[in-house]
Amino acid sequence: MVKRLFAYIGQYKKYVISCIFLMTFDVLCEMMMPFLMAKIVDVGIPQKDIAFIARVGGLMIVLALAAIGFGVLNMRFSANASQGFAANIRRALFDKVQSFSFSNIDYFSTASLVTRLTNDVTQMQVMLLMSLRILLRAPLMLITACFFAMSINLKLSGIILIAMPVLVISIYFVIRSAEHLFSTMQQRLDSLNNTVRENLIAIRVVKAFVREEYEKLKFKKVNDAFTKAAINAGYLISLAMPVILFILNFTTIAVIWFGGKMVSTGTMGTGELIGFISYVMQILTSTMIFSMVFILYARAEASAQRIVEVLDAKVDIADKPALPEGGITPSVSSGKVEFRNVYFRYGNSVNSNGSANNNGFNNKMGKDVLSDITFNIESGEIVGIIGGTGSGKTSLISLIPRLYDVTAGQVLVDGTDVRDYNLKTLRDGIGIVLQTNVLFSGTIRENLLWGNENAAQEEIEEAARNAQAHDFIMSFPDGYDTILGQAGVNLSGGQKQRLCIARALLKKPYILILDDSTSSVDVATEAKIMESFNKNLKESTIIIISQRISSIKEADKIIVLDDGKISGIGTHEMLYESNTIYREIYDTQQGGLIL
Ligand SMILES: Nc1ncnc2c1ncn2[C@@H]1O[C@H](COP(=O)(O)OP(=O)(O)O)[C@@H](O)[C@H]1O
Ligand SMILES: [Mg+2]
Repeated sequence: MVKRLFAYIGQYKKYVISCIFLMTFDVLCEMMMPFLMAKIVDVGIPQKDIAFIARVGGLMIVLALAAIGFGVLNMRFSANASQGFAANIRRALFDKVQSFSFSNIDYFSTASLVTRLTNDVTQMQVMLLMSLRILLRAPLMLITACFFAMSINLKLSGIILIAMPVLVISIYFVIRSAEHLFSTMQQRLDSLNNTVRENLIAIRVVKAFVREEYEKLKFKKVNDAFTKAAINAGYLISLAMPVILFILNFTTIAVIWFGGKMVSTGTMGTGELIGFISYVMQILTSTMIFSMVFILYARAEASAQRIVEVLDAKVDIADKPALPEGGITPSVSSGKVEFRNVYFRYGNSVNSNGSANNNGFNNKMGKDVLSDITFNIESGEIVGIIGGTGSGKTSLISLIPRLYDVTAGQVLVDGTDVRDYNLKTLRDGIGIVLQTNVLFSGTIRENLLWGNENAAQEEIEEAARNAQAHDFIMSFPDGYDTILGQAGVNLSGGQKQRLCIARALLKKPYILILDDSTSSVDVATEAKIMESFNKNLKESTIIIISQRISSIKEADKIIVLDDGKISGIGTHEMLYESNTIYREIYDTQQGGLIL
């Protein structure tokens, strides 16, 4: 997994390569030090050769400065490389998520996608940074230190052959037992992140329902769980430290013991022994670092897997690759909509700990949300859809612009299956105001231009007038240049809805779909909106989902949905006569409206 992501280093490869070279020079300079030191002690000092000491000392200073220079450059380039690497992965992830269908997003959940785009990418970045700074250094140091140690005294180097395996084996056992602790830690960090995100996104709801105490408790639980895992992992590592230190110190003693004998018999210089000890220490610490980095890799591997999972996810609603027979791209031309025996159910979603463990969109979960839906809407008709919450209204209209694909049956727009359209062409022909409407931070104008980026001011105002939004927009001191807060927090619900309608109207769509989009608008204003639709959008097919019968009473056709099935289709009068569900809804609402 990690290897696969290395492809994303891309244009930053030159920094990686520079890092490797710089690191090599750095290590070589550093490794020379004990060797030169040995020369001063063994040659310069006994012979009292000040010139020699000055020469070698000078060389050591130059080497030290060079090592610092190489080191600093390496820091810089490794930062460039790892940040660039992370930026590339983030961008690839973001682009991929942009291509996601609604069911892809359902599958991963927004919170998990955010964690993957931030946390997991950071893990990868740290991994590359550490690799370029430490991982590379360790084997280089190991090799050069071995070389120098052996060139000082081959016989004494035998000690390294014993000490190194002992160290590697003990570290291996520590890592083995730490591994599962780290993966537990990672998982708990995930659920900690998820809890925080979910809570912050919905902080207003939490407050409105006075759920703070409950949420605090929930947070405390995941927080404690994470802390416990982290402490356990730390505990194990701290146990490992004395063992490692013991091995290091024991080796030093052995070197001094045997080396000391050699010095006393004259087969080894004192300086050589000092230099040798430095090399042995370098060999053992780099062995240690080298092994420790594997822990980092194990953790990066988990993140890499979560990243690759997103990058590899199959986008289930994709454009038609080739033109249908005849070679003409179909385009929305009049706004007819037809449903033929449509069945629909939602796909699987990610399991609760936030990791999707299968990439397939199997449909084993849940029941049909829509079953056997068949109806026909002529172009220019106004159609109302009514039905209890959860009856499948939103699901039904989501199928028209292919936010989701049918499970069985067909949805046709202007006689062509929606799956045969180019997605952009299809969606350009359809204006949809979703139930949970979203505005972005920016000015009102910027938000409206989403509907049509080339719209002139008159067009914007016309759309706003038709949505009954112009007057309240002009009541703001900055008018169309009023800056909206994040998600439009500084607007009322009804104002937001009207802006969303205006935004959809700017598209001049053949089909306009309003999903309960006037629920927060007062009845009088809603009536005005309907009136301007009747007057100014004669050509467009309009589909209105509403809880209020008053908003759809005048429609050419009303579809009554009940538990995913069509319970009746007809005009208000027809349905009132023949459909009990419709009559019940109507009568209750009439009762409610009597003042
Ligand atoms: N994204 C989704 N994933 C899974 N199930 C969903 C999703 N959206 C809605 N549902 C389920 O589908 C059913 C119909 O929902 P919906 O179409 O939103 O109803 P309505 O708009 O009429 O209130 C409900 O039972 C709901 O729980
Ligand atoms: Mg709905």
